[in-house]
Amino acid sequence: MEFHDFVLSQLARTPSRLLDVGCGDGRLALALAAAGHDVTAIDPVAPDGPIFERTTLEEFAPSHLFEVVIASRSLHHVPNLDHALDRIGQLAPRLIVEEFAWDRLDERTAAWYVSNLDGPSKSVPQCLREWNEEHTGLHGYETLRAGLDRHFREHFFAWRPYLHRYSEVNASQENEQAMIDTEGINALAFRYIGAPRREASP
Ligand SMILES: C[S@@+](CC[C@H](N)C(=O)[O-])C[C@H]1O[C@@H](n2cnc3c(N)ncnc32)[C@H](O)[C@@H]1O
Repeated sequence: MEFHDFVLSQLARTPSRLLDVGCGDGRLALALAAAGHDVTAIDPVAPDGPIFERTTLEEFAPSHLFEVVIASRSLHHVPNLDHALDRIGQLAPRLIVEEFAWDRLDERTAAWYVSNLDGPSKSVPQCLREWNEEHTGLHGYETLRAGLDRHFREHFFAWRPYLHRYSEVNASQENEQAMIDTEGINALAFRYIGAPRREASP
C-alpha cells in the first residue's frame, strides 16, 4: 500500500487536521488535501500554495494544534532529533512516520542492490563505501528508534522495502519484498505510528 493510502486508512475522520513535516515537493500533502483533509505542510523547500509553509519544524509557529503529524522520510534529516520529536509531540496526539533506515544496508543487501543496478558494475565494498559516505550525518535506524521510544508509545510498526524506489534499480517492490522474506536481505524502510508520552498542549 502506498504511504498516502496507508495514512488515509489510519485517519479516524474526514476532514482531519494534519501537519506534514518535511513535505519536500508536497506530493503527499496534496494527495491528503485532495482526499478532503485539512493539511498544513512545512519544509524549508516547500512549494508555493495555500497549504504549504516554507519553514522548519523548529521555527514553525502554528495558530492551532493538529490531529496527526505525518513525517515521511524527514526525521532522519532533522538536526536535533530529540527536539524535533518533542515538538511534534506538542503539536498532535498522533504521529505517523515513514522512514529510511539507510544504515541497514549490509553486505547481503548491498550485493542484491548492486546486482540490480543499471549502469556500470560496482563491487559490494565500493557500494558500501559510497553509500556510507553519501549518508554520513543522517540519523540511522537505532537513533531514530531510540528517539521515537523516548518520546512516543508505539501503536504500529512494520518494515518496508525501499531500494526498488531508486530509478536506477531494476527490481519491483514485490521482488524486493520477496528477497527480504526469503533471502534475508534487510528492509531499509519502516512505517511507525505512535502517541506522545507527553500529551499535546497549546
Ligand atoms: C528526503 S526528503 C522527503 C520529502 C518528502 N516528505 C518525501 O517523502 O518525499 C526530506 C525533507 O525533509 C526536509 N527537512 C529536513 N529538516 C527539516 C526540518 N528541520 N524541518 C522541516 N523540514 C525538514 C528537507 O528539506 C527535505 O525536503
